[in-house]
Amino acid sequence: MRLRIFCLVVLVLFAVTLAFTASLTTQTSAAQQSKPQITHVPAVYTDPSSGSAMFHAYCASCHGNDGKGDGPAAPALKNLPADLTHLAAKNSARFPELQVAQAIRGDWMTTAHGNKEMPVWGPVFLYLAHHDPAIAQLRVRNLTKYVESMQKK
Ligand code: HEC
Repeated sequence: MRLRIFCLVVLVLFAVTLAFTASLTTQTSAAQQSKPQITHVPAVYTDPSSGSAMFHAYCASCHGNDGKGDGPAAPALKNLPADLTHLAAKNSARFPELQVAQAIRGDWMTTAHGNKEMPVWGPVFLYLAHHDPAIAQLRVRNLTKYVESMQKK
């Protein structure tokens, strides 16, 4: 009886290992099939009080150093990154502060008009802030202010 249970446990363990290896292999082959054009790197730490430092570290790769949407990663995306210098102009000369903050946090990503190509920054900023929501919010606010400072008059 004991032996039968032992054999069963070994069998189950074996099956689990097999399943795990199988899922690992499918993951690698899927990764190999998709063209690796964009390299995802962990977000570096930046000063939460510097909108400029954060923009250049987290946003410029797609939106460009001056926010015009022509960053080095832009050609690899299906949708062009938005030109962030015309957000006020497109909104009757009023900078859409809330919309920009939501875009950065990733709030609208799951809604119908959401776009998964723009990374969701809310969780990243929470992680960098060791889950202090006040510091994560400070990052979003200072980034939003920086984007506001880029508006074409
Ligand atoms: C991997 C590329 C990528 C990165 C990095 C990125 N974005 Fe975007 N972003 C996009 C794309 C693509 C869109 C267009 C989405 C759409 O129009 O549906 C977009 C849209 C936006 C919008 C919405 C503009 C509008 O018309 O309402 C804002 C604001 C924005 N990004 C700000 C930022 C900020 C700030 C950062 C850095 C924290 C950032 N993005 C990082 C790709 C990126």
